[in-house]
Amino acid sequence: MKPRVAILISGRGSNMMSLIEAAHAPDYPAEIALVLSNKASAGGLERAQKAGVQTAVVDHKAYPTRASFDAVMQRELEKARINIVCLAGFMRILTPGFVNAWLGKMINIHPALLPSFKGLDTHARALTAGVKIHGCTVHFVVPEMDAGPIIAQAAVPVADDDDEASLGERVLAMEHVIFPQALALVANGQTSLNGERVLSGQPVSNHVLIAT
Ligand code: GRF
Repeated sequence: MKPRVAILISGRGSNMMSLIEAAHAPDYPAEIALVLSNKASAGGLERAQKAGVQTAVVDHKAYPTRASFDAVMQRELEKARINIVCLAGFMRILTPGFVNAWLGKMINIHPALLPSFKGLDTHARALTAGVKIHGCTVHFVVPEMDAGPIIAQAAVPVADDDDEASLGERVLAMEHVIFPQALALVANGQTSLNGERVLSGQPVSNHVLIAT
């Protein structure tokens, strides 16, 4: 039995689609069993439905506290017998109680090379900072935002004439590569923790990807 994965989204769901498409391969080690959104208007919901994946919406505005919202999310995940959670552009801060319940089983994609550029507007901030290398990170989720052991990263070069959109596009293309790879490692039980470091037994080229 493959582990059952829920993807949490708030928007268009391009990373979600990269996971759904990867999981179509018969030898992919995880099954995408649920897409859960905190917004009924999230474009990704329709894309997931078209791909035949079950969807659910838990509107955060209907709940007075983060804890009550998270409790309903938890119920949805339990109902769908979920083993692994992927945050793919999920724009809500989760309570430590929820995060701790999924420790080692919940991963997030962040559009920067962590620990640089945590938070929002990562591409604009990377351009302002003048970095020459930017990228994306998949990491285990811990209560602190955009922290947690790093599973995979990909680097992209920053061009002189890049703007936020062009740089974001280059990073996004790599997000779609490393997120399915990272989920496969977690689903296969290939990741182990050594302090803050995730060891996966993978050759360097498989967890540090460099786009040109
Ligand atoms: C991605 O850039 C992801 O890294 C960030 O939010 C964005 C979501 O995009 N966490 P999409 O909905 O997956 O297209």
